[in-house]
Amino acid sequence: MAQLALLLIFGFSSSCNGYFVYLNRSGTISEIPSNIPTNATKIDLRNNIISSFGPRAFSNFTSLLMLEASENPLVSIDYTTFEDTKIDNLILAYTQLTQIPDLNAPSLRHLHMQGHPGITHVDFVHLTLLYSRLRFLNVSICSINYTRWPENTTEVTIKNFDLTRNDLNTLSNGAMNSWRRLSFLYLEETGLSTFGCSYINDTELIILKLSRNHLTEFPDLQCVGQTLEILGLARNLITAVAKEDFRDLVTLVSLDLKANRISRLDEIYYM
Ligand SMILES: *[C@@H]1O[C@H](CO)[C@@H](O)[C@H](O)[C@H]1NC(C)=O
Ligand SMILES: *[C@@H]1O[C@H](CO)[C@@H](O)[C@H](O)[C@H]1NC(C)=O
Ligand SMILES: *[C@@H]1O[C@H](CO)[C@@H](O)[C@H](O)[C@H]1NC(C)=O
Ligand SMILES: *[C@@H]1O[C@H](CO)[C@@H](O)[C@H](O)[C@H]1NC(C)=O
Ligand SMILES: *[C@@H]1O[C@H](CO)[C@@H](O)[C@H](O)[C@H]1NC(C)=O
Ligand SMILES: *[C@@H]1O[C@H](CO)[C@@H](O)[C@H](O)[C@H]1NC(C)=O
Ligand SMILES: *[C@@H]1O[C@H](CO)[C@@H](O)[C@H](O)[C@H]1NC(C)=O
Repeated sequence: MAQLALLLIFGFSSSCNGYFVYLNRSGTISEIPSNIPTNATKIDLRNNIISSFGPRAFSNFTSLLMLEASENPLVSIDYTTFEDTKIDNLILAYTQLTQIPDLNAPSLRHLHMQGHPGITHVDFVHLTLLYSRLRFLNVSICSINYTRWPENTTEVTIKNFDLTRNDLNTLSNGAMNSWRRLSFLYLEETGLSTFGCSYINDTELIILKLSRNHLTEFPDLQCVGQTLEILGLARNLITAVAKEDFRDLVTLVSLDLKANRISRLDEIYYM
């Protein structure tokens, strides 16, 4: 309908590096347009009808930093699709993919994969080795019910991780222990009945969102007591909150406990 199709050039006065942005969200594109200048740094093909990206499909775009290809009926992306690019940010929300693609893209730092009901399995051991510089990962609104975790072993660089609305139910011990840079963790509506330091020891969490799970106890978060500022626990099954639960949470500024089953609330000091 809205023929959103334009070509923009942004000049950066500060350096010799220019930015070239190509955007065409016309809803009619089924292959990568041949008229995109090879110096494009950002290509936006959101809301089109592309079903696959073949071998080295973007390799001529040697300056490419960002691809937005959400809302395309993508079913496959070749391992070599981004070879020779500088791809840093890949936005692939709401496609038809049934797994997180394996790509030769060592520069990738941001991966947006939310909205994939076909994705049920994620091997985070494999993923974090493949994308060893990843800082941001969004796999919310998928159907993830089978996971494999690094468990204390490798150094993981992810800082911002969104797993909201999946079917995890449990995490394995030590799951994210080695994610030392992890600061923002979103685990809302994932079916979890327990949570605590045995999954996130050694992280630096600032925000932890655990609302809409099945937690029956206030989680032990002593390991992130020096960094945690925002804790979301709304809509769980927590029955009691004790003063000791907060003793180590010295940086906490916001706590949401609404819609739980709290029948015992110790006098809690304001922090
Ligand atoms: C966007 O793609 C459509 C379909 O290929 C094409 O008709 C239109 O001219 C394109 N717009 C631009 C600015 O390239
Ligand atoms: C990119 O290519 C376009 C079209 O060929 C050109 O007009 C533009 O100056 C180039 N930009 C940079 C930064 O090289
Ligand atoms: C890449 O560039 C080469 C040389 O200009 C050209 O032959 C080839 O068709 C291009 N590949 C794609 C996928 O556009
Ligand atoms: C992940 O994607 C969902 C759905 O688009 C969005 O609401 C959420 O804010 C994203 N998470 C992060 C950390 O950006
Ligand atoms: C995960 O979900 C899929 C699709 O609903 C189902 O076929 C599969 O058996 C489930 N696997 C596990 C481990 O629960
Ligand atoms: C990782 O650490 C957790 C908690 O300290 C422990 O329970 C688990 O057994 C460890 N896993 C491995 C594979 O060492
Ligand atoms: C967390 O890490 C500390 C220090 O590395 C260790 O002493 C402690 O046993 C660990 N706790 C858990 C629950 O893994």
